[in-house]
Amino acid sequence: MDLGLGGKSVLIIGGARGIGYAAAQEVAAAGGCIALADIDGDAAGEAASRLAAATGARVVGIRMDVTAPDEIAAGLETISAEFGGIDGLVISAAVLDDKLFLESGPTDWQRMIDVCLYGPLNVLHAVLPKMIEAGSGHVVCMATDAARVGQARLSYYAAAKAGVIALVKSIAQEVGRHGITLNVVSPGATNTELRQEREEGMRAQMGDEAYQKRVQKVERMYPLRRIGEPQDHAGIIALLLSDRASWLTGQVISINGGFVMP
Ligand SMILES: NC(=O)c1ccc[n+]([C@@H]2O[C@H](COP(=O)([O-])OP(=O)(O)OC[C@H]3O[C@@H](n4cnc5c(N)ncnc54)[C@H](O)[C@@H]3O)[C@@H](O)[C@H]2O)c1
Repeated sequence: MDLGLGGKSVLIIGGARGIGYAAAQEVAAAGGCIALADIDGDAAGEAASRLAAATGARVVGIRMDVTAPDEIAAGLETISAEFGGIDGLVISAAVLDDKLFLESGPTDWQRMIDVCLYGPLNVLHAVLPKMIEAGSGHVVCMATDAARVGQARLSYYAAAKAGVIALVKSIAQEVGRHGITLNVVSPGATNTELRQEREEGMRAQMGDEAYQKRVQKVERMYPLRRIGEPQDHAGIIALLLSDRASWLTGQVISINGGFVMP
């Protein structure tokens, strides 16, 4: 299926690795131009060079911290100069913690809310006026199924992401008349560095044997009998960024191997 992304410019924040980078690969394969933004500016630059070399797509790497409105504004200037505008936006940037609520405190909550909720607020506030001016645009924000059904040890992460879902649905109602769509992709456990870092902590705590049993138990909890790979999300994200999905807005799409069916 031709997604019609040829020549479209897409900003992917948190794009240096993981699901964001996989989405960038898909958009590049579909002919899109990509700005890969990340708080790790070096990683964004390296990822951009790798993607451009592999696909021939126009790709720029930008340092951007979603908690810093001035960095967002500067990044948008760069993208304007490179591509002329922004047709699509993916907000994939996130941090993760693995703590019982009663073992966490205000410093943990603040960091999480700053990145995972204020981040999308900051980015959307800066990008949407440009999309309104252009009369079109497609936005994908990443949440988590933990935000829909809850998950022990992820309380304040889930709460921040539940805020993103409410934000997207509400803004979708406000800007739909400008031809702008906003949707949420809600992944189940996916094999990225973010998850691997959390899993390494668990392995260290539990020991190898108990950890391997846990891995098998987790896989059995998935009707499709495996956790996700970044590529499992990429095609759906690219579709949501395309005009093929131009009558789809304010929706939450769980991509989770059937783990929960909210
Ligand atoms: N991997 C999973 O199991 C899983 C499950 C549910 C939801 N998600 C969500 O999917 C999205 C992508 O997750 P992933 O697993 O690919 O993560 P990842 O850690 O592999 O990639 C996230 C990227 O965001 C960047 N980032 C972190 N803080 C930032 C900031 N302040 N500003 C800009 N960039 C920042 C990181 O440097 C990293 O490159 C996230 O929103 C995450 O919450 C992931």
